[in-house]
Amino acid sequence: MQNVKLNCGIEMPIIGYGVYLVDPSVTERCVLEALSVGYRSLDTAQYYENEAMVGSAVRKSGIPRDEVFITSKLCQSRPTYAQAMENVKGSLRRMRLDYLDLMLIHWPMGNDSEIWAAFEDLVKEGYIRSIGVSNFYPAQFDKLVREASIIPAVNQIETHVFYQQRPMMAKMADAGTAVESWGPLAEGLNGIFTNPVLTEVGAAHGKSAAQVALRFLTQQGIIVIPKSVHKERMIQNLETLDFDLSQEEMAAIRSLDTGHNLEGWPSDALKYNPNTV
Ligand SMILES: NC(=O)c1ccc[n+]([C@@H]2O[C@H](COP(=O)([O-])OP(=O)(O)OC[C@H]3O[C@@H](n4cnc5c(N)ncnc54)[C@H](OP(=O)(O)O)[C@@H]3O)[C@@H](O)[C@H]2O)c1
Repeated sequence: MQNVKLNCGIEMPIIGYGVYLVDPSVTERCVLEALSVGYRSLDTAQYYENEAMVGSAVRKSGIPRDEVFITSKLCQSRPTYAQAMENVKGSLRRMRLDYLDLMLIHWPMGNDSEIWAAFEDLVKEGYIRSIGVSNFYPAQFDKLVREASIIPAVNQIETHVFYQQRPMMAKMADAGTAVESWGPLAEGLNGIFTNPVLTEVGAAHGKSAAQVALRFLTQQGIIVIPKSVHKERMIQNLETLDFDLSQEEMAAIRSLDTGHNLEGWPSDALKYNPNTV
């Protein structure tokens, strides 16, 4: 597995397994399957209500804890410093883990610097190895960084062939923050799996449109966390680092960028209105 070196020196697999909308009743089975086919990075969140099942799957897998990179995300409206400390410890209790590899603020909560101060102290105390943000656009990102001691290791944002986020890529590269794509398969929307450009490029490599869409991201160093409840698709999504797209193929896929997100989240108002930071 190829890794991305985060700005704190920690290595994170470039492909992980995401569990948004994986029903808690099947999460343990899905995570065990994902681990069995080779995933070593898992992305959950308090909001998904399946943290506990991710933790139990890791234990049941028998894979040593230090060989699996585990991410969760804080979801609490404007917690105080003390509440944010307790919030993260709550994730650890639910998952029955001693530490998390990466903890994110799931989206701007309004008092992000106060949450961040708690995250920084949790790193010092050994509860979290690295910290980052999600759905932070320029205004919130800049405000957080101005008051931070630790620069976010990761910004997890909607990124896929139809919303390529080129301005954010440049901004995050300048900041030294890795971009992690959520919805790397555009959540299955917009006809991605039968898109003619992706299908044609895939045919040249013996790969599916989904595999080309993921390779387009990882070839740019973007971390991806595709979700599937089907084992054969988990395997397909993992088998995407063994081919390279040519300059011409990359250019053809770049032309699919609409410049818009697909589901209106986060809204443009949240992204750019300085009153929301
Ligand atoms: N930070 C945030 O705000 C945020 C928001 C959304 C998601 N996320 C994270 O990002 C992860 C990935 O995003 P996502 O789950 O929204 O969407 P996604 O991974 O882009 O797409 C998932 C959809 O694609 C289907 N699929 C997966 N692999 C496929 C393949 N090889 N061929 C055909 N269909 C395939 C899945 O169906 P089946 O399951 O039926 O196979 C599912 O409907 C999440 O699980 C979560 O961890 C974070």
